[in-house]
Amino acid sequence: MEKSLTATVLFSCTLLISLFVSSSAQTCKNYTFSGNQTYSTCTNLPQLNCSIHWNYYPSNMTADIAFRKNGATTSNWIAWALNPSGPRMAGSQALVAYLRSDGTLYTYTTQVGQTGSIVPGNLSFEVPNLTVDNTGGDMTIFATLKLTSSLLSTSQVWQEGPLTGGNPSQHPTTGENGQSVGTLNFATGSVTSNGVSNPKDRKRNVHGVLNAVSWGILMPVGIIIARYLKVFKSVGPAWFYLHAICQTSGYAVGVAGWATGMKLGSDSPAITYKTHRNLGITIFALGTLQVLALLLRPKPDHKYRLYWNIYHHTIGYTTVILSIINIFEGFDALDREKNWKKAYIGVLIFLGSVAVVLEAVTWMIVIKRKKTASSDKHANGVNGYGSRVQQTA
Ligand SMILES: *[C@@H]1O[C@H](CO)[C@@H](O)[C@H](O)[C@H]1NC(C)=O
Ligand SMILES: *[C@@H]1O[C@H](CO)[C@@H](O)[C@H](O)[C@H]1NC(C)=O
Ligand SMILES: *[C@@H]1O[C@H](CO)[C@@H](O)[C@H](O)[C@H]1NC(C)=O
Ligand SMILES: *[C@@H]1O[C@H](CO)[C@@H](O)[C@H](O)[C@H]1NC(C)=O
Ligand SMILES: *[C@@H]1O[C@H](CO)[C@@H](O)[C@H](O)[C@H]1NC(C)=O
Ligand SMILES: *[C@@H]1O[C@H](CO)[C@@H](O)[C@H](O)[C@H]1NC(C)=O
Repeated sequence: MEKSLTATVLFSCTLLISLFVSSSAQTCKNYTFSGNQTYSTCTNLPQLNCSIHWNYYPSNMTADIAFRKNGATTSNWIAWALNPSGPRMAGSQALVAYLRSDGTLYTYTTQVGQTGSIVPGNLSFEVPNLTVDNTGGDMTIFATLKLTSSLLSTSQVWQEGPLTGGNPSQHPTTGENGQSVGTLNFATGSVTSNGVSNPKDRKRNVHGVLNAVSWGILMPVGIIIARYLKVFKSVGPAWFYLHAICQTSGYAVGVAGWATGMKLGSDSPAITYKTHRNLGITIFALGTLQVLALLLRPKPDHKYRLYWNIYHHTIGYTTVILSIINIFEGFDALDREKNWKKAYIGVLIFLGSVAVVLEAVTWMIVIKRKKTASSDKHANGVNGYGSRVQQTA
């Protein structure tokens, strides 16, 4: 029965891994710039056929960016901006580019005024390098941005509009032109546009939910079941099956979560969460060891069973403790998801309270049984449940 259980778990894992690892290639990744510039992070912005590419250097808080308009017409201007004052046009720190009537490409910086004026001027941060390129129908603004901490994760806006008499004029405000706002985090690579997360953000959320539910909730619940339910005689051997179901389904979902994490890591080599990654690999190894150890479990009365129990409990508790630590590491990486952290802390407090109450109840039952056992010694012999609780508690 255990062997078939293990086989089922391994099968479901393979299935889930293949479900989550197969993912569509991002088209912005394949783009080759005319100057062969390479960027570690990029996102397609669905509005106006644009994409944003960048390398971020934490050491000097500098980002090299490329903003590309796919299929640009030379009768239009294009612009991309950061706006620390919010997801709107006014106050945007913008980079603008267009083809002048003399046939030269022109790009400049501007702080967009309340009325939408875009006269050239310095930004609130330095832009030491700014160039524009128009090749193969794509117009791209290349820039180096010397960011400040408030600009690392902020609103971004992008726009396109017509040239009138060779100068930029009012852009449409409906359709895609009215939806081209979002957020951008240079450090984590997360981008949204028009309130929608990009596929990578959605993958991160899937990764977070799978791991928090499996390693962070199902497994601790399984441990609570194993530790406390077996004390209640009425439950009988059901505790074992409940425990096995929690841990195996937790492991199956957890492996899928782990695989999505590995995939996220390999998709953005420039953004690494070393501690999170290493803890994740350790937890996965310990969890797998735990599943494999089921195959070697000695019979209950075997002389090595005690050592197996000690081993099983040590690895089990270690895995869950490391998992909880790593889930918090993950929340810190997903800086926008503060509510998830709060929800998970709520779950932990609930599980902790349940465990404390059950611990107290268990001790009461054990002490009561001991008393009954010693007074009934002659009649009943040793209380099997009591001694088992003492052994495992
Ligand atoms: C992008 O490149 C990858 C391999 O580098 C390839 O599998 C994928 O099909 C390409 N996508 C597009 C849209 O060209
Ligand atoms: C970019 O790379 C291609 C092929 O690797 C090469 O032919 C081309 O000259 C390079 N362009 C520049 C501007 O370096
Ligand atoms: C985006 O590209 C598609 C296909 O290339 C085109 O049909 C559409 O008009 C473009 N949209 C804009 C706003 O440029
Ligand atoms: C910032 O640091 C990176 C790598 O350390 C370097 O390549 C880049 O030139 C620096 N940029 C500026 C503006 O100092
Ligand atoms: C803009 O910045 C440059 C370089 O930092 C500086 O030389 C110039 O005076 C600034 N212009 C204005 C109008 O502040
Ligand atoms: C400015 O950026 C362009 C395009 O990425 C690059 O070719 C050029 O070397 C950069 N100039 C400086 C001074 O960094």
